[in-house]
Amino acid sequence: MKALILAGGKGTRLKPITHTIPKQLLPVANKPILFYVIDQVKEAGIKDIGIIISPETGAYIKEAVGDGKRWNCRITYISQDEPLGLAHAVKTAQPFLGKSTFLMFLGDNLIEGGVKSFVQEFESNSPEALVLLKEVLDPRLFGVAELNKKGEVVHLVEKPKEPKTNLALVGIYLFTPQIHQAIAGIKPSWRGELEITDAIQKLLDMGKKVRSHILKGWWLDTGKKDDLLEANRVVLDSLLKRDVKGDIDSKSKIVGRVEVKKGARIENSTVRGPVSIAEGCLIKNSFIGPFTSIGTSTIVEDSSVGHSVILENSRIHRMERLEDSLIGTRVELRRADERFKTVKIFVGCDSSLEL
Ligand code: DAU
Repeated sequence: MKALILAGGKGTRLKPITHTIPKQLLPVANKPILFYVIDQVKEAGIKDIGIIISPETGAYIKEAVGDGKRWNCRITYISQDEPLGLAHAVKTAQPFLGKSTFLMFLGDNLIEGGVKSFVQEFESNSPEALVLLKEVLDPRLFGVAELNKKGEVVHLVEKPKEPKTNLALVGIYLFTPQIHQAIAGIKPSWRGELEITDAIQKLLDMGKKVRSHILKGWWLDTGKKDDLLEANRVVLDSLLKRDVKGDIDSKSKIVGRVEVKKGARIENSTVRGPVSIAEGCLIKNSFIGPFTSIGTSTIVEDSSVGHSVILENSRIHRMERLEDSLIGTRVELRRADERFKTVKIFVGCDSSLEL
């Protein structure tokens, strides 16, 4: 079996940060989402991985992931000229996929507990496709599945205005090569994309077996700012272990599950977990936490930061309380006016703000 990870697209819903960083490389607990995806693919026993990249951000992905040696996997990069849909990405990858069965994994999705059991289920039941479903509050934002009384998938619609169920399609699928024939039989949707949802519906129309599995654990789809903060919260909450390797002075307090990487320094500050602080950070006269990740070599001084993700090489000064914020790389943020108490902010990279 092969794997196809989709890391193309435009990341429109995460602009401005995705002007400079592909959304699949945005960090959750200081590790790119795509790395968790590759970890889960590898853990399922798949070593031959194709990654769909776009002409705009492909170079960043290649630089970050490399040749796959770190995972002991073989990585093949497949360039998709335009983001014309998930089924179009599969079509583009056809030469790589050949006659193989494959796991398709959207590079901005993550699920609790990995995918190994689903790969095993697919291999032992041999359906044409296996899809994962999750109950969601607003199914209009996703592909939606209808099941019959026996729990079998009978109908699938992409982002319906009036969803018939609350079962969303999770961005993780297993396919036999039959999917290529189904894709050949579909047309672009109203949003101009070749939808994988329509291709799976086509399989059903062709009388093929499509199995489904309703997820009980968490599912993270990091398409928007609040989703990314939520992903950071959930991953810190469920996976982070206390590991303090940095330099902590005697006036500082580190409470609970906190990771302070080597080369980071905490001075006269309190860090209340779960929090991840990367290499080379300086935290001075500040309060950090909970649910916060601070990227490599970022400086936080005379500030309080909670429930936020700050990327590398940024400087935060005199922020009385920074919350629910996503801050890019090399951002300079400084409070000049005492009236600004709690600040919630979403800034792209290379910005400078004085509030
Ligand atoms: O997240 C789950 C949802 O993902 C499903 O419920 C939907 O049925 C499915 O269509 C998809 O919807 P989105 O609109 O959220 O997909 P998005 O455009 O965000 O693309 C998902 C990933 O695939 C993202 O990492 C970018 C990549 N991509 C996307 C397109 C359209 C590509 O590599 N190539 C593409 O052409």
